[in-house]
Amino acid sequence: MNIPQSVFWENNSIQLLDQRKLPHVTEYLTLETVPAVFDAIKSLAVRGAPAIGIAAAFGVALSALRHPSDNIDKLKEQVLIDSGYLSQSRPTAVNLFWALNRMNEVVAGSATAAALRENVLTEALVIQKEDEDVCRSIGEHALPLFKDGNRVMTICNAGSIATAKYGTALAPFFLSKEHGINLSVFACETRPVFQGARLTTWELMQAGVDVTLITDSMAAHTMKTKNISAVITGADRVAANGDSANKIGTFGLAVLAKSFDIPFYIAAPLSTFDLDTPNGDAIPIEERDPAEITEVNGMRVAPEGISVFNPAFDVAPADLITGIITEKGIVKPNKQAIAALFA
Ligand code: MRU
Repeated sequence: MNIPQSVFWENNSIQLLDQRKLPHVTEYLTLETVPAVFDAIKSLAVRGAPAIGIAAAFGVALSALRHPSDNIDKLKEQVLIDSGYLSQSRPTAVNLFWALNRMNEVVAGSATAAALRENVLTEALVIQKEDEDVCRSIGEHALPLFKDGNRVMTICNAGSIATAKYGTALAPFFLSKEHGINLSVFACETRPVFQGARLTTWELMQAGVDVTLITDSMAAHTMKTKNISAVITGADRVAANGDSANKIGTFGLAVLAKSFDIPFYIAAPLSTFDLDTPNGDAIPIEERDPAEITEVNGMRVAPEGISVFNPAFDVAPADLITGIITEKGIVKPNKQAIAALFA
């Protein structure tokens, strides 16, 4: 796999692949302050639930390095304030809060300022390495669901750059290449930010996976005419009952898949599950800048003064989901099965 890493730590700062510029420009931002990390997450320079969590974890490591205090209580207070600030960057992907909680525990458990600085960096690197292993396992569990020659639909980008490596929904396609299995992907463009058109196509083409781009509105016709055998997407938050939030348009694909009797899978690590959120209605849905819809590449396409509704995510209800593919295997989307996963 020859896809650049989206986030890494170098010279006491964060190197971040600027996903807003892909696929035309491969450029890394050097992030040296916590506000820069906040802005990178909010503006989608880094995006995808696990990658957001990894970036935020490194943001906490930056915070600990940048605050000069050697008084442990003072340093803890400052780092926890920065962690709270980073948690305000985006509301839906629970991996952000999951990663920050892990970092906060490490902060709380550190005895000296020097230990704290070392521990938080170690923890951020561990979170990143774990995510790579977890994503590979998701791919291994997902691969047997597909047969040579299958055509599979996806939306948004749940690929390598949305995680530490491999991705979630895209992991089986990367692994299929290693196993000599030929799968074809139909990628929905993913209005309004075009993660499918810009990122999923780019990743899969680099890996040599057969990929065809469609607009979101072509999904029903494509399912009907192109013999689509499954739909697989990532998730930003899986509620305790299996309802799953993912990029806007995912709910529609789940409804369509049901009507065509096509299996609909969510691929998500355990870090994307939120047992404190009972169901999809309780998942906060981010609403983003209207300009994402009224403009395309900076060019206005809608009349001035138009009202806009721009939810970035929607919720596929559990009863439309065939299975949730995790690093521990495929789980049925219901409360008992999900609770057992964490038991
Ligand atoms: O707004 P984005 O681009 O961060 O949305 C990303 C998604 O919806 C992904 O499908 C999800 O985070 C899973 S990434 C492995």
